Amino acid sequence: MTARSVYLETFGCQMNELDSELVAGQLTALGYRMTPEQSDADILLYNTCSVRDLAEQKVRSRLGEVRLRKQNEPNLVVGVMGCMAERDGEAMYRQFPVVDLLCGPAELDKLPGLIDNAVRTRASLEGETAHEKSAKETALQGDSSRRSSTLAAAADSLEMLDLSRAVSPTDHSGSAYVRITRGCNKFCTYCVVPHTRGAEIHRPPDHIVDECKKLEQAGVLEITLLGQTVNHYRYEHGASVTIDGVTQPQKGRSFTGGHTRDPLAGANTTPFADLLKRIQRLRFVTSYPRDFGDDVLEVIRDSPRMCRYLHIPVQSGSDSVLKRMNRGYTVEQYLDFIDRAKAHLHQPELGRPLTLASDIIVGFCGETEDDFRQTVDLLERVRFKNNFIFKYSPRPGTTAFGRLDDDVPHEVKKRRCNELMAVQQRISDEVSQEQIGLEFDVFVEGVSVKERKKRKAANGAIALTVGGRDASEPAEPLPVEGPIQMSARTDGDLITVFDCPQGMAPDDLVGTIRRVRIDDAKGLTLSATLL
Ligand code: SAH
Ligand code: SF4
Ligand code: F3S
Repeated sequence: MTARSVYLETFGCQMNELDSELVAGQLTALGYRMTPEQSDADILLYNTCSVRDLAEQKVRSRLGEVRLRKQNEPNLVVGVMGCMAERDGEAMYRQFPVVDLLCGPAELDKLPGLIDNAVRTRASLEGETAHEKSAKETALQGDSSRRSSTLAAAADSLEMLDLSRAVSPTDHSGSAYVRITRGCNKFCTYCVVPHTRGAEIHRPPDHIVDECKKLEQAGVLEITLLGQTVNHYRYEHGASVTIDGVTQPQKGRSFTGGHTRDPLAGANTTPFADLLKRIQRLRFVTSYPRDFGDDVLEVIRDSPRMCRYLHIPVQSGSDSVLKRMNRGYTVEQYLDFIDRAKAHLHQPELGRPLTLASDIIVGFCGETEDDFRQTVDLLERVRFKNNFIFKYSPRPGTTAFGRLDDDVPHEVKKRRCNELMAVQQRISDEVSQEQIGLEFDVFVEGVSVKERKKRKAANGAIALTVGGRDASEPAEPLPVEGPIQMSARTDGDLITVFDCPQGMAPDDLVGTIRRVRIDDAKGLTLSATLL
């Protein structure tokens, strides 16, 4: 029998991108063939996001498209994994009978088994009725997500998935994600993540460092550490898992009650700052505005390979909105932190300016025009390099959904969103202009988007594979005329383009760190000369 082929499409955040990479690695190791074409595949997997209604709509429309195909191909297996699977649960089978399997983000180690079962059942039911072919395979965390016994076991098996990561030099163009925490315990009132990803769990530092080493040996130069509140990382040694500072028992160890602390807890702890010291060129997302001590800022300042970029979402510039969001800080506390971060890390004269990015929600429950003005003021004051600005989208199951009124009309949300985007655009332009004349070490990611488009227009196909991650592109590069424009990133996360010098192959630049001088800036893109 030929290898089953799998199409896997990813929606949502970097956490989902990493999950998809791990799942693809596991399925490949088991003999499945990953394909970038839906039409080629016997198994369709959607790794979904629930953070806003729009994210879910995209998946719903995919499932609508697949319904027609499945009428002709009853053996096609359709799987929904990720946050939407967890949030919708088995109700999804009723709404979308086309779905054969559901797998929550905390159950991904079970996915190959679910797929295998689904494939076998359908194959063995050749000629049977559609009803018999509709057997469902399900692995969801459900309500057990915050029970410590289940958590410890789940953490162990998920840890196996991360540890099984198959790293080959062709998988990454020099850059990779590594997870340090799972889940979230913050329960911001608007947010589904604690409900879909479960309780916060910190991975053991040795596992993280080993994974980074493995990636480095495979040629990865830049690692992005992932966590919903990444700077909240704190690992208690001797524990199987550490959940919000409370140690959970190792498997097989006697455990006498819910409140017993592991005897080793506290004796040997790895806080976030110590973890950072052990890893090379490094970025991390997403930071939480609390939990950020000077120790971390000092490690970032003193390590030449640590990126000077903090993604530290503020969400709103109004204290009353922050309070209703349950963010746990005031605007003043946020600004104090920003001042502290700038004092430690903003060193443009050394070619190391600090850049900041954030997320904002406009139109949250009860947001007045005055609250919104305070958000505009905050943007002017902090001068983020960029901001991800979202209109509030009520999510069933969250505290805000049940208790607060979504009372800002859609038109008002839209106007505030547009106004804030225009303010941010101007600030982004200014931040870019400030980089002109500076010299930076940049991480070369690949051929620039503009260069790709140029070649596509000229040749009817994208024929440059250099630094690309799209396996659907043809392997043979076209003959090239004129310099090839490359795309790189500063350690402040600013996109920088430069021409590949004559006599140098683009492939030799991709995945390396090079020094450039910034000559110009348009919008958020800097143009530079390779030094
Ligand atoms: N862990 C990260 C963010 C995860 S979700 C943090 O705490 O900063 C990414 C972003 O989506 C959030 O920062 C928030 O700005 C936005 N978001 C989350 N829930 C939302 C909702 N219900 N409506 C609109 N935006 C939302
Ligand atoms: Fe959601 Fe808040 Fe957790 Fe971020 S910190 S994932 S916004 S609950
Ligand atoms: Fe979306 Fe889940 Fe990430 S809801 S943002 S995919 S953690």
